[in-house]
Amino acid sequence: MKPHNLGNRFRQERMRRFLNLVGQQARRRVRILDVGGTADYWRALPGLYGRKNVEITIVNLDEREFDDENLKIRQGDARELSHFADRSFDVVHSNSVIEHVGLWRDMQRMATEVRRLAPRYFVQTPNYWFPLEPHFRLPLVQFLPEAVRAVVVEALKRNPTRGAAIEVVRSTILLSTGQMRALFPDARLERERFAGLTKSLIAVKE
Ligand SMILES: C[S@@+](CC[C@H](N)C(=O)[O-])C[C@H]1O[C@@H](n2cnc3c(N)ncnc32)[C@H](O)[C@@H]1O
Repeated sequence: MKPHNLGNRFRQERMRRFLNLVGQQARRRVRILDVGGTADYWRALPGLYGRKNVEITIVNLDEREFDDENLKIRQGDARELSHFADRSFDVVHSNSVIEHVGLWRDMQRMATEVRRLAPRYFVQTPNYWFPLEPHFRLPLVQFLPEAVRAVVVEALKRNPTRGAAIEVVRSTILLSTGQMRALFPDARLERERFAGLTKSLIAVKE
């Protein structure tokens, strides 16, 4: 199977898990906050997008996308969402974002915001210990020192300069099970597996 198709399969399966979490409230109005989300993600995955009783708000550093009748898109930083009051949402969702917000202190700030904004949440991130690094699609690269990772990323030619490569490396920091537990102590940790190994981790609070 091509990596793209495999990625889609995992996303669909992940959405099924998320629907189980939201499903308990399916008949009532459900307010979802997607931290670091994109409109394409919701449009591509059947289940919640387009449902009348579901309101989806996306916050992302990047504000390139536009609202539609099912999605509100707001510019915002996952680490500082004080413009939303406590429990403004029913569920917080976040897919492949916490590994991009910065160092441990930044991840803690995002986790605090997720836990503050809704009684339930669903936060997914790739597993540090899975042998294939998903962003660079290279085996074991996450175990190399930062300076060596920057050389590798520069060599992949996705970044024109060493400085840009260092920026990418510093904003792509994978997390382990223990770290996810420390960030989300009130959640259950679910595992997505591939070939018997844990490919990604999902902190789920019901
Ligand atoms: C790998 S993409 C995932 C996008 C989407 N959640 C998905 O699964 O398709 C990471 C996203 O996190 C966003 N992001 C990174 N740091 C952020 C921050 N501090 N606050 C909000 N969004 C952030 C990026 O702009 C990017 O859209």
